[in-house]
Amino acid sequence: MEIYTTKADTAAAVEKLRKEGKTIGFVPTMGALHRGHLSLMEKAKAENDILAVSVFVNPIQFNNKADLEKYPRNLDKDIKLLEEVGCDILFSPTSQEMYPEGEAIEKYDFGELERVMEGKYRPGHFNGVAVVVKRLFDIVSPHKAYFGEKDFQQLAIIKELVKTEKLPVEIVPCATVREAGGLAMSSRNERLTPQQRKEASFIYETLQLAKKRKDDICPLPLKQMIYNIFDANENFKLEYFEIADEDTLKPVTAWGQTKKPRAFVAVWMNDVRLIDNISLI
Ligand code: PAJ
Repeated sequence: MEIYTTKADTAAAVEKLRKEGKTIGFVPTMGALHRGHLSLMEKAKAENDILAVSVFVNPIQFNNKADLEKYPRNLDKDIKLLEEVGCDILFSPTSQEMYPEGEAIEKYDFGELERVMEGKYRPGHFNGVAVVVKRLFDIVSPHKAYFGEKDFQQLAIIKELVKTEKLPVEIVPCATVREAGGLAMSSRNERLTPQQRKEASFIYETLQLAKKRKDDICPLPLKQMIYNIFDANENFKLEYFEIADEDTLKPVTAWGQTKKPRAFVAVWMNDVRLIDNISLI
């Protein structure tokens, strides 16, 4: 595996490979890699000649300073995992390299897509994601880029970014990888105690319950039921539970409004914020 820390070296390495006719599959990450990340990489490796990965904790997508400071970082361990999965190119820049001082940060408008759920509760978050992903695409020039459904709204934002900016890259969605109990894998899970990690299975169980009850309850009372269930559990503070159309992310108030309803949740376990989502079909 070749490891680069500068934009110029990474772009030069990729350009050479592209000239040789190699296809590039790219997985952008913020590190603290787990099996969820690795599943994206395995798919990218299988579908392309070259696997490129970035590890960069992107400061401008954190709307909460403590979350940025506490975000788990372990590049040495990540490098070992990347070697194991057969990564060819790792780009691991500093903040200074990605955001040279004095440089203006682009401003995107994703309309409704960024005003609901994560966009509503984490102002500026998706702009920060879009800025870094666009810059990473410009540096790595991938043929295909892989994103997890775990961050379903992020995936929708990236698809929109590619469409509006006419970027020459194919976005490949990847299914959420879960712990045995159902908890969606996340770098932030490292901040939970072993006991909390077990209790956190409740989030997926509750999403499953929503799916089960969908045929006999309308969306609004179903939402209320899920709010009540979280209210009654002292381990969690619910930020939102939403039922929305998978493509537009518009909230659904009657099942007839959508063919692809999806349930989305964000909850706090102490100071750790967890998100998850499942299809209700
Ligand atoms: P990060 O949280 O490190 O996630 C990197 C990629 O892994 C994202 O596409 C995310 O959806 C995917 N992923 C995380 N957990 C997963 C799971 N349990 N199953 C499947 N895929 C999973 O998302 C980001 O980083 C950043 O916002 C980034 C896109 C890198 C921009 O900074």
